[in-house]
Amino acid sequence: MSQPSLLDRHSIRQHVRHLRRALTEEQQIQAAGLLAEHAVNFAPLANARYIALFLSVDNELNTRPLIARLWQKKKQVSLPVLHPFSAGHLLFLRYTPETVLTTNKLRILEPPLDIRQLITLDQLDVMIVPLVAFDSSGQRLGMGGGFYDRTLQNWRQHGFLPVGVAHDCQQVEYLPTAEWDVPLPVVMTPSRLWQWE
Ligand SMILES: Nc1ncnc2c1ncn2[C@@H]1O[C@H](COP(=O)(O)OP(=O)(O)OP(=O)(O)O)[C@@H](O)[C@H]1O
Ligand SMILES: [Mg+2]
Repeated sequence: MSQPSLLDRHSIRQHVRHLRRALTEEQQIQAAGLLAEHAVNFAPLANARYIALFLSVDNELNTRPLIARLWQKKKQVSLPVLHPFSAGHLLFLRYTPETVLTTNKLRILEPPLDIRQLITLDQLDVMIVPLVAFDSSGQRLGMGGGFYDRTLQNWRQHGFLPVGVAHDCQQVEYLPTAEWDVPLPVVMTPSRLWQWE
């Protein structure tokens, strides 16, 4: 596989983030509601007990309505936390309506680091994964930190299903990939479900 040009990846990120910012508040609310509805009826999520999600930033599709539905269904929800000493890695900690979130150094909300709340990757059934863009073969482009590429490296062995969530406008025809990029088996958008295996 040839090394993709960084400029390509950078300009795709810029372009899609621009499209996402153009969505109106009403479109955002509708998208989040539709996605939550599809998601709770998607068998791997309906049957899951341990589900990792993320809290949306930067006009990402708002995952909070989905989290509320999952809590109602008594699912165990967890959120990513920056690893305290392994740079570039994530831990997943239980998230309940009582959790008081704190702001991390990337200015993203996360549960306080309390090892008793740790959920291992082996425990997870589904991981909802953020993305900036995805393509017609399930390749994924994130914000550029490589956090999710590292987390998803051995997802089959861990036994959880990664599910990307995005607005429809985040689909591009073709993404240049790097050797460390992990493609997604499933992506959900407000209008459809994409599955590649
Ligand atoms: N498995 C890995 N091991 C070591 N470094 C990695 C790994 N995955 C990604 N990286 C590093 O992370 C950096 C960012 O990767 P990339 O541009 O693919 O991020 P991304 O997929 O957009 O971000 P994210 O996964 O956080 O959403 C790369 O420069 C790469 O060196
Ligand atoms: Mg990547």
